[in-house]
Amino acid sequence: MRTHHCNELRSDDDGQIVTLIGWVNSARDHGGVIFIDLRDREGLTQCVFRPEESAESAELSHSLRVEDVVSVTGKVEPRPEIDGKSTVNPDLPTGEIEVAATSLAIVNKAEVLPFQLEKELSNEDLRLSHRFLDLRRPRMTQNLRTRHLVTKAARDYLDANGYIEVETPILSKSTPEGARDFLVPSRMHPGSFYALPQAPQQYKQLLMVAGVERYFQIARCFRDEDLRADRQPEFTQVDIESSFTDPDQIIDLVEGCLAAMFRAGRGIEIPLPFERMTWHEAMNRFGSDKPERRFGMEIEDLSELFAESGFKVFSGAVKNGGVVKAINAKGFSGITTGQVDKLTEIAVNHGAKGLAYIQVRGVDPETWRSPITKFFSDEELTGLQEQLHIEEGDLILFAADKWEAACEILGRIRLECAAMQQLLEGKENVFDFLWVKEFPLLAYDDEEGRWTAVHHPFTRPIEADRQKLESGEYEGLRAQAYDVVLNGHELGGGSIRIHEADLQACMFKALGITEEESRAEFGHILDAFQFGAPPHGGIALGLDRIVMLIAGEHSIREVIAFPKNNKGADLMTSSPAQAAPNQLRDLRIKSTVREKKDE
Ligand code: AMO
Ligand code: AMP
Repeated sequence: MRTHHCNELRSDDDGQIVTLIGWVNSARDHGGVIFIDLRDREGLTQCVFRPEESAESAELSHSLRVEDVVSVTGKVEPRPEIDGKSTVNPDLPTGEIEVAATSLAIVNKAEVLPFQLEKELSNEDLRLSHRFLDLRRPRMTQNLRTRHLVTKAARDYLDANGYIEVETPILSKSTPEGARDFLVPSRMHPGSFYALPQAPQQYKQLLMVAGVERYFQIARCFRDEDLRADRQPEFTQVDIESSFTDPDQIIDLVEGCLAAMFRAGRGIEIPLPFERMTWHEAMNRFGSDKPERRFGMEIEDLSELFAESGFKVFSGAVKNGGVVKAINAKGFSGITTGQVDKLTEIAVNHGAKGLAYIQVRGVDPETWRSPITKFFSDEELTGLQEQLHIEEGDLILFAADKWEAACEILGRIRLECAAMQQLLEGKENVFDFLWVKEFPLLAYDDEEGRWTAVHHPFTRPIEADRQKLESGEYEGLRAQAYDVVLNGHELGGGSIRIHEADLQACMFKALGITEEESRAEFGHILDAFQFGAPPHGGIALGLDRIVMLIAGEHSIREVIAFPKNNKGADLMTSSPAQAAPNQLRDLRIKSTVREKKDE
């Protein structure tokens, strides 16, 4: 006999004998008659156990506890009227019927659960240590399903566009994506290690050299970095690479792919095409390479106004080649001292020397509260009022620094002010997509005293800047790189690649990698580029982040079946764990960390 799903039965099924199998979601005793809500992954059905239908089942039903697995057979009946009142539950698809049980089998009993499933639990570690229970919650079941639909949509879309999925190794070689590698010791090559891929970057480029032309992979990536709400040590990319392409083609392809993913996962049509902005503009206006534009508060440049100011902090910054920038947090003049301290702390943590501000108490600058306005001339005050459209109730925040530092500082402050003012409340259904283009190719690392790749070392400069890279001028080079951004999250990033061995060698040189080192680390790529490498480019989308935003969640952990906690541990399986001495011996590894009992 076929069993029914718990979301299947309707009033048309009246009179049918059915069997349902699932979990006891709740059990209620109404004067000796037991009502249970039976749950499976599809939904709920109410089952009622009356002694007159089956004395034995009714008796057994008294012993049911939540989360027991049971099989119920009975007749589908309309929910009755009691004392002239309908017992229909309009909130439930099966709310018009109930199953009058004639037989009950307890398939498996459940112990008392470590937490209740129907309550939201703030203790995430407890949830993660019993993830198999946590995933029974309807919201989590739904998230798993959304992820399935979104992933399938991406696969189908790329397949329809001529892309073929190729798997690349997990036991692979270190590839620089800017994070630390996870290493796997080799037993057969004592003292040598595989690296888990931070991304399949080199393999997909080698597939282009192999003539695959259009590759994709739902690819697992591993990065040993500090974790945040949108970062896991192990995550999934929709990884894409194409030969004979250009940024516009990649952008079109990805827009179509994201549209398919949002359609499948959320049932909405996202408007295409997305706006495009250079990295310079994104930094200048929003202080971020992944601008959140669902509120205003854009960064304004006041360098000209304060170039000759008597306030030396400002004029000095301009004289040193820097800038004076400010944001106007409308209506936030009532900021508390505690909040000012918090903002200042954030600014200082990002390298600011201070965070000058004005609390605009009234139209007349005499009423303003600020540690700095006393140093401003009348012209500066008027100029400020005009340029920042200052009104009563505003809060003005300043940064005087080098251009990029000032932008970044105000970018952070802007987001924090928006959080304090709750400016994003009610904007949950606004999806603001954006392409950020023309990233810098190289960035100078002051601490290490060398140039580093902003994207990765395989990224191509824009044609106008190629000559400079070849001749060793590294300042201000722009890359053929693009990121797709949604509501302040970087959804994905990619670039057109270098496909010539000599240009790639110039890039390695810029990064301070000697010829010897580049042969040892990247010999395969340099070799491959000698044998007819096609021009190519691609992108990788962060699947976890996309599903998180589609599902309306605030952490990617909510859309990953078995995520790590914020310390990188899987509390359910207790990993990472110590290895057995014989495993270490086989690997010829000696741990220098003393075991706990020795300490
Ligand atoms: P990138 O390093 O920008 O590019 O990664 C692409 C996208 O992957 C997602 N992502 C992450 N998601 C969750 N947890 C993490 N720790 C994490 N790190 C990155 C982001 C990001 O935009 N090989 C290049 C792509 C290319 O050039 O084609 C790459 O990996 O959404
Ligand atoms: P000072 O004259 O150093 O006491 O600074 C006066 C005010 O300007 C204080 O509120 C500082 O926090 C702020 N401040 C100092 N340096 C900077 C800077 N580079 N950018 C913005 N504000 C600053």
